[in-house]
Amino acid sequence: MCGITAYVGNDNALPFLLQGLVKLEYRGYDSAGVTIIDSANKINTYKAKGRIKNLEELLEGNHVEGKIGIGHTRWATHGVPSNLNAHPHTNNTYTISIVHNGIIENYQELKKDLIEKGYHFNSQTDSEVVVHLLDYYYHGDMHEALKKVISIIEGSYALCVVHNDNPNVIYITKKDSPIVLGRTQTASLAGSDIPAILDYAKDVYFMEDGEIAVLTKDDITFYDADDKLIQKELIHIPYDNEAAQKGGYDSFMLKEIHEQPYVIKETLRGRVENGDRVVLPELDAIHDKLPSYNKAYFVACGTAYHSSIFGASVLEKLAGIPTITQVASEFRYNDPIVDENTLAFFVSQSGETADTMAALRLAKQKGATTIAIVNVLGSSISREADYTIYTLAGPEIAVASTKAYTTQIVVMELVAMYIAQALNRNSYDYRKLIEGLSSLPAYLEEILKDEEIFKGYAKLLEHERDCYYIGRGLDYASVLEGALKVKEVSYIHADAYVAGELKHGPIALIEEGSIVIAVATQPNIASKTISNIQETIARGARVVLFTIEGLDVQGVENTYILPNVDQLLQGILVAVPLQLIAYYTAVFKNCDVDKPRNLAKSVTVE
Ligand code: M6R
Repeated sequence: MCGITAYVGNDNALPFLLQGLVKLEYRGYDSAGVTIIDSANKINTYKAKGRIKNLEELLEGNHVEGKIGIGHTRWATHGVPSNLNAHPHTNNTYTISIVHNGIIENYQELKKDLIEKGYHFNSQTDSEVVVHLLDYYYHGDMHEALKKVISIIEGSYALCVVHNDNPNVIYITKKDSPIVLGRTQTASLAGSDIPAILDYAKDVYFMEDGEIAVLTKDDITFYDADDKLIQKELIHIPYDNEAAQKGGYDSFMLKEIHEQPYVIKETLRGRVENGDRVVLPELDAIHDKLPSYNKAYFVACGTAYHSSIFGASVLEKLAGIPTITQVASEFRYNDPIVDENTLAFFVSQSGETADTMAALRLAKQKGATTIAIVNVLGSSISREADYTIYTLAGPEIAVASTKAYTTQIVVMELVAMYIAQALNRNSYDYRKLIEGLSSLPAYLEEILKDEEIFKGYAKLLEHERDCYYIGRGLDYASVLEGALKVKEVSYIHADAYVAGELKHGPIALIEEGSIVIAVATQPNIASKTISNIQETIARGARVVLFTIEGLDVQGVENTYILPNVDQLLQGILVAVPLQLIAYYTAVFKNCDVDKPRNLAKSVTVE
């Protein structure tokens, strides 16, 4: 996710802008840039692909000085990482400069319109429309122009704007993307996150959606969404920078678990039309070819393999295409039956996993149409696949994957609906499914409020050496992922089984006090799983059950009822409690949750 810094004051802006960007490095980025307005009121913009030190080297040679400026680190979402796509973006006459975090959903239509009006675009980004719109609506008053522009753009944004007509003022606004402001004795500052400004200001202002802030070296003036002058309260930040980078959470894993409502919203943004149609321009090139595919593959490793099991099932159900899921390290050596009638999905958070990459190359060689579902823009897998659809989870820093998993499933639901709609398969109520997807962030917020309950379930695991996860159908993917999380971060041996398989062997392991974590969310088979649970209880197991309302769960020691959403979406909801159980078990055992032993975030070797 991108980072923003802004400074107007008595001193040179550059040191603050750069140190703020460095403080935001933990969020991940692929390019960086700054705009400084100098004493001759000239807008000077410098951008560099790669690390902040590349930008610093560029600036060193240019002796940049000025008391007002904006800075940005970009995590690419629209357009590859490059100097041109890096922020700040300037208008064609170099009088206005902006930095933007978020996604402008309606940028394509706005861009078309602006090009017709004669504007020239330098980048592939969605953000650049904002600066040209500001140029178009600016008639001497940037506050007014900004109000007009935010009434036109759709999506999420934190925006900082400077104009050389008024070289002592920064204008800031936001919607669904954070921005935090602060004051020193001689300057006004802003950052997209607290760490950017915390070394300068311990008391900060948080902006609300629709508000506009006007920053000068002497003060900050706030206007509400109705353009009324308002007084905002200063909030004291009681923690240090290291804690601030984790958003005040104890670890990146916990922060990333809590980010899921937000990143799911971001992943859905702009991908649904009229409440019942999926918009995936990434697949439009194969839209008419879709009836010719007679088979699909989902290929991935680890957590991405688990989301693939889920996604493959949804694709089969909605689109009716026989779909095989395979671990990438198996696929590449199994001589898979793949040809030009095969649609092959390669799923990866990092986009760099060696086995997944090798499997992708093999499938391409055999003639398949390859589609990457990845999180990191411009990553190797995204570059090599024929088509790429991005999850918009933002950088995932903890080694254990959490928000990448749920956003992968969200993308897979969209892909399955897109293909089903292209094939005119209308047996499912897409409007209901899309409504369900949109309701997920709110339901997840509710589930996250029950953290103490999941912490309690983790207590059951704390001193165990083994535990068992069971589920059927789509719930099997959930229990595989739940068990992997526990193994990874708490080093407890966790085995996941299809519940119906218990009696074919694993039930021999169940004894007095064994911990069984069960998921039963699929109405057609939930009661079957509950019968399997009873079999384990009869042998002394202590059970934690995640299920839906209306089932007979008598005798189960711990039952958590999940919100009532479509059965194809329950896997996204239940993922969060399972992640929290793993997380707190690891915390109770004093494990290093963010960096579990023997594991790497990106596995680039075979
Ligand atoms: O970057 P990828 O999604 O391709 O990574 C795949 C696996 O290495 C990854 O999911 C791994 O299993 C995680 N540690 C799971 O938490």
